[in-house]
Amino acid sequence: MDTTQERLDDLRRRKIQAAAGGGAARVDAQHNRGKMTARERLEELLDEGSFQEMDTLVEHRCKDFGMEKNTIAGDGVVTGHGTIDGRPVYCYAQDFTVYGGSLGEMHGLKICKVLDMAMKTGVPVIGMNDSGGARIQEGVASLGSYAEIFFRNTRASGVIPQISVIMGPCAGGAVYSPAITDFIIMVDQTAHMFITGPEVIKTVTNEIVSFEDLGGAMTHGAKSGVSHFTTQSDEEAIGLARQLHSLFPLNNLDTPPRAPQSDPADRKCPVLDTIIPDDPGKPYDVKDVVGEVLDGDFFLEVQEQFAQNIVVGFGHLNGHTVGVIANQPKVLAGCLDIDACSKAARFIRFCDSFNIPLITFEDVPGFLPGTEQEHGGIIRHGAKLLYAYAEATVPKLTVILRKAYGGAYDVMSSKHIRGDYNIAWPSAQLAVMGAAGAVEIIHRRRIAGARNPEGERERLIEDFNDKFANPYKAAALGYLDDVIPPNQTRIRMIKALEMLRDKEELRPARKHGNIPL
Ligand code: HXC
Repeated sequence: MDTTQERLDDLRRRKIQAAAGGGAARVDAQHNRGKMTARERLEELLDEGSFQEMDTLVEHRCKDFGMEKNTIAGDGVVTGHGTIDGRPVYCYAQDFTVYGGSLGEMHGLKICKVLDMAMKTGVPVIGMNDSGGARIQEGVASLGSYAEIFFRNTRASGVIPQISVIMGPCAGGAVYSPAITDFIIMVDQTAHMFITGPEVIKTVTNEIVSFEDLGGAMTHGAKSGVSHFTTQSDEEAIGLARQLHSLFPLNNLDTPPRAPQSDPADRKCPVLDTIIPDDPGKPYDVKDVVGEVLDGDFFLEVQEQFAQNIVVGFGHLNGHTVGVIANQPKVLAGCLDIDACSKAARFIRFCDSFNIPLITFEDVPGFLPGTEQEHGGIIRHGAKLLYAYAEATVPKLTVILRKAYGGAYDVMSSKHIRGDYNIAWPSAQLAVMGAAGAVEIIHRRRIAGARNPEGERERLIEDFNDKFANPYKAAALGYLDDVIPPNQTRIRMIKALEMLRDKEELRPARKHGNIPL
């Protein structure tokens, strides 16, 4: 019979062994790659001393390929819970020093336990991925655990915020857990996500591509739109995960925490009075408008490098978290295209799931014309954006800065799809299309028959602009709640938001809608 002291020593030895992961040499290799270890990452993520580890002593139960002689307590993933700025979070970090962070049966079930506990308690989950994928020695047991995770990610979607930080390889079907979560942060140069790697691609298609070009942070940040944020280091990625957590509620029944507020709610924004160029064809940076209106110039842009013709991100208005969607006239004149629609729709659905009001800044000449867009399914993708706005029941505030043309007028949170507060600046133009195009269609014969066709066209364009290149027709119809001097924008948005705080809007009961995908 062991003495109490012996039992305690045994426990201490087991814990020390688990904490050592794959051993000093592999830890050094991890550091030499510029990567932190799983435990270092969790320490960086959580408030000091708050981490409570779970399942430290879990081991795999694989008996093939000599694995029975190679068990490491923890099975390659460190899991548990802690706090960020005093608010709870469940978390896990895969340990690349143990079997390359590969996911075997028990490793996967540890992650499942975290997701189950997070769901039971209504607490967000942050997962840090650094893994060679399915543990080859464990075969289908590994695949089974992956699918258990995917199922839980899906069930948790819209119930608790889920954030994935990719800090190493994430290959094959392993990518689908992060893909189902709400936000993906990738570390430049060390994170790689792909379904099939460069070797397989070479064999199957003869294409030669590097890991970085195939699935690096830049590729997924700018081209594929898979990731939402790119960072230069593990520390920066973890800091960003903390920041996102601080912006979100704990779950779908909670409201986001109020940020400390130093920017006055009655601050006027005089620079906005002159921000729109007199020439309607001239661009400006919509981020200048967003930054001016939000509290303290804080704006956390999401998918900054992807579909830059639309800007989405988080900020505060009078301390409350808001989601901003803004057409960007600087890129493709702010036209809506396939990528912009998908990007904004997913962002809107996240905000709506988690009680984050939507603030839309609109300056959109329409959907991007072209066969590439039509054949790529702009109808389907544009419908996605329309659907996302229409189904959202959080407070929806819209400011039309300049152009609101055609279908894009309807789509961008218009009154008709239940915008709650729709206002415009005097520079707003609400019309089926721009004056030049419109005149060409409705007055073609008249122009052709005129003694001076050019002069007639000019006159008709001017006439059309007088009628429609302003917000007053829409204001007369009640489609706009008001037309305001731009400098009043922040004040009016804050007042509207306060008024809408207790808004309740019901949609018909149903299993779920069928959003065009
Ligand atoms: C078991 C693995 C492993 C895996 C790596 N290791 N991947 N063990 N299963 N999938 C082990 C290695 O044997 C090695 O062990 C240690 O982890 C570190 O790996 P290295 O190759 O030395 O490291 P590195 O050179 O950095 O290369 C990392 C890597 C490479 C790019 C991830 O290991 C790799 O290509 N692994 C296989 C990736 C893969 O194809 N996975 C399956 C994808 S399909 P020692 O003991 O030597 O330190 C998939 C399906 C999921 O995941 C389906 C879900 C539905």
